[in-house]
Amino acid sequence: MKKLSDKQKSFIKDLVSKMTLEEKAGQLNQLAPSSLGGFTIDEQEQQKLLKAGRITKEDIERAKNAAESFKEQEQWVREGKIGSFLGLYDRKDIDHLQHIAVEESRLKIPLIFGFDVIHGHRVVGPIPLAESCCFDDELWEQNAAIAAREAAADGLNWTFAPMVDIARDARWGRIAEGAGEDTYLGCRCAAARVKGFQGDDPASRDRVAACVKHFAAYGAGESGRDYNTVDMSVQKLFETYLPPFKAAIDAGAMTVMAAFNDFCGAPCTENSYLLKDVLRKALGFEGFVVSDATAILELIAHRSAADLKEACEHAINAGVDMDMNSRGYIAFLPELVKEGRVSEQRLDEAVENVLGIKMLLGLFDNPFDRITWDEIDLEAHRAAARKTACESAVLLKNDGEALPLCDCGQVLLVGALADNGPEMAGTWSMAADNLRTVSIKSGLENAGVKLCYLPVCAPGGEINEDELSRIIAHPAKTVVAVAGEYQVLSGEGAALSNIDLSGQQNRLLRELKAAGKTVITVLVNGRPMAVAEAARNSDALLELWNAGSEAGNACADLLLGKVSPSGRLTTTFPNASGECPIYYNHPATGRPASETFYSARFADSPVEPLFPFGYGLSYTEFEYSDLEISAKDDGVDVSVKVKNVGKREGKEVVQLYVSDLVAERVRPVKELKNFKKISLESGGQKTVTLSLKKDQLRYYHRDMSFKADSGEFLIQIGHDSENGLSQKIFIEV
Ligand code: GLC
Repeated sequence: MKKLSDKQKSFIKDLVSKMTLEEKAGQLNQLAPSSLGGFTIDEQEQQKLLKAGRITKEDIERAKNAAESFKEQEQWVREGKIGSFLGLYDRKDIDHLQHIAVEESRLKIPLIFGFDVIHGHRVVGPIPLAESCCFDDELWEQNAAIAAREAAADGLNWTFAPMVDIARDARWGRIAEGAGEDTYLGCRCAAARVKGFQGDDPASRDRVAACVKHFAAYGAGESGRDYNTVDMSVQKLFETYLPPFKAAIDAGAMTVMAAFNDFCGAPCTENSYLLKDVLRKALGFEGFVVSDATAILELIAHRSAADLKEACEHAINAGVDMDMNSRGYIAFLPELVKEGRVSEQRLDEAVENVLGIKMLLGLFDNPFDRITWDEIDLEAHRAAARKTACESAVLLKNDGEALPLCDCGQVLLVGALADNGPEMAGTWSMAADNLRTVSIKSGLENAGVKLCYLPVCAPGGEINEDELSRIIAHPAKTVVAVAGEYQVLSGEGAALSNIDLSGQQNRLLRELKAAGKTVITVLVNGRPMAVAEAARNSDALLELWNAGSEAGNACADLLLGKVSPSGRLTTTFPNASGECPIYYNHPATGRPASETFYSARFADSPVEPLFPFGYGLSYTEFEYSDLEISAKDDGVDVSVKVKNVGKREGKEVVQLYVSDLVAERVRPVKELKNFKKISLESGGQKTVTLSLKKDQLRYYHRDMSFKADSGEFLIQIGHDSENGLSQKIFIEV
């Protein structure tokens, strides 16, 4: 992260010395337009929250009287009681509040405006899990930079992204928001996204501060339930869940968001081991920590605090600098300091952390200096979203080269999701210009495909028998069936106990197949799903994901062969929901899963996953040969020849995996340690060399020493986590 100059530091110290306790608490107070959070919540859900004690009648009244609530917040800004807003993205409102802060408040301290710009803003790209399947650092960075430009144009200075939670349980709805199950890929993706959001100078008018979240291990919630308890060894925390945070911090991440979950019994929001020993000391973080939304208030529900005042005492003393929407810090910090329960030194430290980021963002110099919409080429952003959607899609099956679609006359299209543009946007797309999100039906029509479309079945719904009959009776042979899940069922709060295709979607595919149709199934979803039956009943299976504003056009590009699919899975697809959590880099066991009865398998499920990590097909074929390993001082270089032996050009992700064959602690059966995406014309060949550094062989021993052991390693390089050329070597560290 950029450093403050001595001059800037002394300015901040001097400013803090002039602040009252309430003004200091104000800088640590972040509010949403309503106390219900950064986005609207419908009446029914409000009543459920009220019944669960999560909100009060006053909160509901406040939400009902938004204008009055806004007036109240304007006055709080004037009085220096608010330091930040979340959930606003109307530039007029933002500039209006900022003028009040810098012109009417006593100390004229600028506000910082944060929003969830997770996979784009007005133009959204594929959800982050989909985008991670691109295996392309430049694309990840470019898309974050595009999102930053649009966020800045709306007056924002801060995004609550990247989410870097390693996720290995597809029942967890928020698996949609990260980069999947692998730590190495998660690190590369985290760094690229931070660089994209912040650029070289986050004070630039088209950049925003990143917020790496959720600290820590939020993706390891028991049974895939959101917000659920997390308990693991410190070795596992440091080996699996922390590295993407370190990669983000090393890339300059300016803020960190504490997670909702507890970690080994101590809620992250008041976990001083995590927030001080790990985040500040071990990872070297120097920015500020914001709680998650109302997470400080939720310490009461965690039963680690008796009331909001005590919750605030715990959170600030543990290292949470800013209170997101609990309204606790502004209410209780002044008296907690007066009572000696919170030191003024700690209060000043938190304020300095926040003011330091405001300074580095240029907010003190000119808080209104943001890019404007007339400087933005939205069509270029849409083109980037379309390209990314193409590169994120993963071709899972393609029997008999059912794809790409030949010029086979009329094409049947079924599935309610096919004609629903907004559903393509996916979770965390509140600001998306959904009126222009391209549905799959529109995308195919834009490409000139003659369609006969009938919904027939929606996710979770029954089959319209009449429509099914008409489709089956239709003379056209090929049917594109769009199946999956509604976007509300992935993302926050959307844990599912069953990740099969819901309703009668499987029956639809079964009937179409039985009727002799060529079935091209396109999945629109925000998580890996248990689609074994769908795969059996499809000639081709394309994982499109929630692919964003240009989903439909990208889908047409892929189905018609304008683009050859090149996405590779960053999460393992299970045969059945009950296999979750499932991930490729699982620890070895004494009885590795095999066909033998007494082994680490399910007796009612295949040994192998439905589709493994790193897997994905193309419209061409790649062959690997001539594996060579050459020793270097700091590791080895692994080279392999890759040839495109198919009929058309294509992109391949060459993946390097390593297995530590004997170690002091049980190690993953294999781990991704490097990858490179290449493009080859038909008949083209390339020698690809991927490095493996000795440092990458380090792991936490039983005594927590972090080091590598000399010994035998199995090197595998190839197409995915299960297929490649391999060689055993001895590495002296
Ligand atoms: C939510 C999410 C967090 C998000 C924040 C603000 O509850 O957990 O990821 O950034 O609130 O919307």
